[in-house]
Amino acid sequence: MAQLSTSCRSGLPLVASTSRPSVSPVYINRRNFTLTRAQTQDAQGNTEYAAEEVIFKPMPAGEQQLEQVQTAEMNSPDVDDSFARLNYHQDSEVGVNEQINHEYSMSYQYHAMSNYFNRDNVGLTGFAAFFRASSLEERNHAQQLMDFQATRGGRVKLAALAAPPSDYNHEEKGDALYAMELALALEKLNFKMLFQLHEVAEKHNDANFTDFVEEMLSEQAQGVKEVSDYVAQLRRVGKGLGVWEFDKIMAERATTMGQA
Ligand SMILES: [Fe+2]
Repeated sequence: MAQLSTSCRSGLPLVASTSRPSVSPVYINRRNFTLTRAQTQDAQGNTEYAAEEVIFKPMPAGEQQLEQVQTAEMNSPDVDDSFARLNYHQDSEVGVNEQINHEYSMSYQYHAMSNYFNRDNVGLTGFAAFFRASSLEERNHAQQLMDFQATRGGRVKLAALAAPPSDYNHEEKGDALYAMELALALEKLNFKMLFQLHEVAEKHNDANFTDFVEEMLSEQAQGVKEVSDYVAQLRRVGKGLGVWEFDKIMAERATTMGQA
């Protein structure tokens, strides 16, 4: 087969140049590029084709996106006016806002617990530090979700938070175990909500969203296990001296969380 001069319109050579015995060029139009081929015949009279020129045309495929970007309004609350939005379903956007509210609610709840254990007549400062660090951690999760929402061109909508209880003493269980059991219930609820969020992401074939939620799910699974262990251990130690000793473990854990 004769070797042909080949170069793309950008000027980059594709094949080394030789003579051009082409009979007639054949143009193959595809969605994003045009392939120009030279038609030749070998000694047996068989027709051969050789690539001559490839012209990549990215813009026809991007026309829809270009129109959307050019017509988008500045500073508009309308999600349709996002510059970045692509394959981000409204269900996903709503789900992320709901999860932001839940993470904030957990943060609020843990903050209330922290302040209970910091009372002068409770004095479990390790528990206070642990729940303060937990509150910041949940607040940070809310921030991660808000950043994701912004990245995908969604709009963050904050909702009202319910006031958490301020007292956590329990006659039978004592305050430490009672608060930790409540924390476990919240962590498991959060785990369940993240699974539901993942279902939304999968339903709309949003690989970026599923990937993001999967990372949160992994961390949440660890959180559920950690708090489950604390519940089991607090059931063993009782309400008095055991809890006072356990408070030191909570203080150490809070320091680690602060460094994470
Ligand atoms: Fe969280």
